[in-house]
Amino acid sequence: ALITLRQLLDHAAEYGYGVPAFNINNMEQGLAIMKAAQKVDAPVIMQASRGARKYAGDIMLRHMVQALSEMYPDIPVCMHQDHGNNEATCLSAIRHGFTSVMMDGSLEADMKTPASYEYNLDITKRVTDAAHWVGASVEGELGVLGSLETGEAAAEDGSGAEGKLSHDQLLTDPDQAVEFVKATKCDALAIACGTSHGAYKFSRKPDGDILSMATIEAINKKLPGIHLVMHGSSSVPQELQDLINAYGGEMPQTYGVPVEEIERGIKHGVRKVNIDTDCRMAMTGQFRKVATQNPQEFDPRKFLVPAMKEMEDLCRDRFERFGTAGNA
Ligand code: G3H
Ligand code: 13P
Ligand code: NA
Ligand code: ZN
Repeated sequence: ALITLRQLLDHAAEYGYGVPAFNINNMEQGLAIMKAAQKVDAPVIMQASRGARKYAGDIMLRHMVQALSEMYPDIPVCMHQDHGNNEATCLSAIRHGFTSVMMDGSLEADMKTPASYEYNLDITKRVTDAAHWVGASVEGELGVLGSLETGEAAAEDGSGAEGKLSHDQLLTDPDQAVEFVKATKCDALAIACGTSHGAYKFSRKPDGDILSMATIEAINKKLPGIHLVMHGSSSVPQELQDLINAYGGEMPQTYGVPVEEIERGIKHGVRKVNIDTDCRMAMTGQFRKVATQNPQEFDPRKFLVPAMKEMEDLCRDRFERFGTAGNA
């Protein structure tokens, strides 16, 4: 059955676990997530970006999520809009059956320019009021996602946004977080702690200088009641980099967010953990392997079956390590 983000994260907070939020664009990703969830009895958050809605179409996504939840009737599913950029994106998502939306007012509607605090607060409050009237949940974001190493803001697609940012902008301020949640009444809060989207997050294994788990701990101390969200939480596993590069890929060496750091976050109020890049890499590693090992192959299913399996294994690992398993 479809449930809201609020229902799911309230349960996660009560029992002290985190929930991975996997991005979906197509049927194969949806099936991989649901198969993994079924195997370990985990509730699911699926999220679609604006790019995913454009790619698959709103009607296709709505029916796909409906079909997936019908196929797996024992698994609760929250369908969430990832990085809504304005009221229209968020409200049209709800109209298409999404049970939850992210209003990302940390950037202006172009999703490039860092927004003022007042802009963020106003637009998040407007969306939260409207969403709550019709029973949907809202995730807000305070602080701009981006790299503490380079000062670059992270646009949704992993490319840099405009200009250099200070640590003040790249790390959520705990006092401001208290005020923001109180004023907007958002159900969950995405925070900035040095992560960014895409594969190229850190040039070395992150320590506290470039990945500030201390920021999360400080926010959780002041706001123990809010569900925190970590974006840019792919671990970019070395095995997947190696798999891709073993079969003709050319990904430069890079580092993601270690799963242990996420586990630490979950102990300090992180309830939703956004993962897209790892799933993309899992599928692409298998596409490359099949293409290289069987160059005569042209049936897409021969590529997609192992790709789904690799993604399913990754999802299952995160359900187990975040404590989601056993909570469906
Ligand atoms: O927030 C970023 C997600 O990875 C979605 O990426 O906009 O390319 O679908 P996308
Ligand atoms: P990754 O690029 O680290 O998978 O982050 C995804 C994300 O934050 C989606 O909102
Ligand atoms: Na989101
Ligand atoms: Zn994100």
